[in-house]
Amino acid sequence: MFPKEVYWQRRKLLRDMVGEGVILFPGNEESSMNYKDNTYRFRQDSNFLYFFGIDKPGLYGSCDVDEGEDILYGDDFTMSDIIWMGEQPRVKDLAGKAGAKNSATSEALAADLKRALQAGRQLHIMPPYRGDQIIALSGLLGIACEKVSSYISEELIRAVVKLRSVKDVHEIGEIEKAVEVAGIMHTTAMKMGFPGNYESELAGAIEGIALSHGGGVPFPVILSMNGQILHNHDHGNELEEGRMVVCDAGAETAMCYGSDITRTFPVGGKFSNRQKEIYNIVLKAHTETIRETSPGKTYREVHLMAAKIIAEGLIGLGIMKGDVDEAVAAGAHALFFPHGLGHMLGLDTHDMEGLGEDFVGYTDTIVRSEQFGLAYLRMGKELEKGFVITNEPGIYFIPDLIKQWKADRKLEQFIDYAKAESYLDFGGIRIEDDILITASGSRILGTPIPKTVEEVEETMHS
Ligand code: GLY
Ligand code: MN
Repeated sequence: MFPKEVYWQRRKLLRDMVGEGVILFPGNEESSMNYKDNTYRFRQDSNFLYFFGIDKPGLYGSCDVDEGEDILYGDDFTMSDIIWMGEQPRVKDLAGKAGAKNSATSEALAADLKRALQAGRQLHIMPPYRGDQIIALSGLLGIACEKVSSYISEELIRAVVKLRSVKDVHEIGEIEKAVEVAGIMHTTAMKMGFPGNYESELAGAIEGIALSHGGGVPFPVILSMNGQILHNHDHGNELEEGRMVVCDAGAETAMCYGSDITRTFPVGGKFSNRQKEIYNIVLKAHTETIRETSPGKTYREVHLMAAKIIAEGLIGLGIMKGDVDEAVAAGAHALFFPHGLGHMLGLDTHDMEGLGEDFVGYTDTIVRSEQFGLAYLRMGKELEKGFVITNEPGIYFIPDLIKQWKADRKLEQFIDYAKAESYLDFGGIRIEDDILITASGSRILGTPIPKTVEEVEETMHS
């Protein structure tokens, strides 16, 4: 955990921003896999972690805005728990670690909530996302499950987004640690990228590296020769010469901060000329937009810059045609780059996505576009010092999408469909790093991970 003052200060800022009422943060419970006592790896709720820091199930945190006090609720372990799980800290001691003066039992939580609601006080909760959490809240509040959402507080969401968006030195340190582990994962995958190995062997080896460093993976490993499928969790293929592997994977630290890195490498360790041409367009979109990433710019501008570099490169190869600015304005590049340039990163891979993406990535004036491709941009708003975001452009040849656009004669003034169809067996390429917005620009977090054609090929043969 961070020093207890960190959590105390975060809650104080939150209470000041929310103004009145009682804020309730339910921690997560264990989640059963195939029978009750056989559980998935426990993952604490990220908001609970941010404000109370305790990575254990069965807890609730409350911040009484009017009284200026915070309470950690939970029950001490019984002897039978201790027999199976060893000695456990008492809730009172956990509260102390989180800088909260008060702790109480789960029974007291029900009574305290009832009293607050009877007194007409406002209760603020975040959007619940687990079924058991909704059922528990329904029991605590004495209302039907469908009514629980009526306590979701926009004031609370906006305040939490404001606080969690700007990372402090402790958090940046954690994310950098997660990037270091991801570096080992990615170079290991590259070195295993030879014909005869199975995707599952690479995926298993790198997930093992994340686990061996004390955390796990913050999202299921994406690793496939079918890189044109953006989030491919299927690892059943044997690696074949002539194909490329897209590996999108990160590590989570013991404190649950994560990294999110993507590299693409050629099976066998040597890019073909055709692969190199596309790879270098993606790399240019990645490196040039990072150079242009700074406070005050909107990430939508930076995304569109990447889109132009991609469209320009594809026009150079004869896959697209026409005027670059007009093609990007029409969204023609999105046939090959159908997703956003990046998202916030922190305790969640898509940081705070559970609070509502538009609260995180957009404002009242910078609203999400409805255009295909641009609509998937999670982060469009102005960048601020302390934001951590990903930069992850890609070029993909998605056979079904190309065929459908061609049949619809969609934007045919900007796309040479005959040429595009000669790439239907190509797959995809994505390159991703994690970026901190600094006072004057930005920097890539962590030790550089091989990225140029030469660096990737050299790593594969080292
Ligand atoms: N790494 C998964 C994603 O960015 O969506
Ligand atoms: Mn990402």
